[in-house]
Amino acid sequence: MKIEKIGVIGAGTMGNGIAQCFAVAGFAVVMQDLSAAALERGRAAIETSLARQVKKGALTEAEAADALSRITTATELTTMADRDLVVEAIVERLEVKTQVLKQLDAICGAQTILASNTSSISLTQIAAASAHPGRVIGMHFFNPVAMMQLIEIIRALQTTDEVAQAVTEVARAIGKSPHASSDSYGFVVNRLLVPFINEAINCVHEGVATPQDVDAMMKLGANHPMGPLALGDLIGLDVVLNIMETLCQGFDDPKYRPSPLLKQMVHAGWLGRKTGKGFFDYPG
Ligand code: NAI
Repeated sequence: MKIEKIGVIGAGTMGNGIAQCFAVAGFAVVMQDLSAAALERGRAAIETSLARQVKKGALTEAEAADALSRITTATELTTMADRDLVVEAIVERLEVKTQVLKQLDAICGAQTILASNTSSISLTQIAAASAHPGRVIGMHFFNPVAMMQLIEIIRALQTTDEVAQAVTEVARAIGKSPHASSDSYGFVVNRLLVPFINEAINCVHEGVATPQDVDAMMKLGANHPMGPLALGDLIGLDVVLNIMETLCQGFDDPKYRPSPLLKQMVHAGWLGRKTGKGFFDYPG
């Protein structure tokens, strides 16, 4: 299966980063979103990220300009018709993802690979919505996409060997490290990372230590580059809660119970960096 033309659906945090990575590696990319405004924000984020890479010496000015010229944008999903691989990075809701997948079934040829960047939804459930479920697979990128090396490759029960192999190869072709996970709740990274953040929140909830001390201890004692509470604030505490609920319900195991303080923080609208307040304050 030859992958040359890429489609990315969703121009948000993940979608614009994914489009950028493919374009830098030489692939022609169409980035699609619902509105021109969302596409403009996505393109502006790519420009900023490319400029940062030029400043760091990772790219020349010409390479950055070439990468940008390989990305076209569109509001119509029909622009996905001639794509070899479409990566979906839209809102984390099963019904929205399956609706888009069904539209893609009607637009794309049966050979087009349809990958989802979902962080918690079952790929097997997503694939079941497609008329060609064997071509559906998970490509789970990490934030910030330009910096993070890993792509978790998640096969749905229905995914064919050819599709898994093609997607693994294209991940390497864009300079990432693909690693396989089965279609299990939270896959590997979130299953380990998010309960760790949740337990740090429990330490604060139980008065074991202050947020400052919890984070300082994990940085100084475990050599983590960032404390778990600052990391939770970065990911978004609503996202952390959502993943804990997925793990708790999926495995039907109380060891994944969300911290009561995590729930309260989300109810208060203190979601971390994006709202200016989480376990730490982010003025401005
Ligand atoms: P986001 O909210 O930043 O961007 C989503 C974009 O999709 C928005 O621009 C929105 O307008 C667009 N969109 C929504 N419905 C659409 C539709 N029907 N057709 C076309 N575009 C549509 O979301 P983000 O953070 O980029 O997340 C996207 C996906 O990536 C989710 O599945 C999320 O779970 C996953 N993910 C997120 C990570 C993160 O750190 N934010 C990390 C790894 C995966």
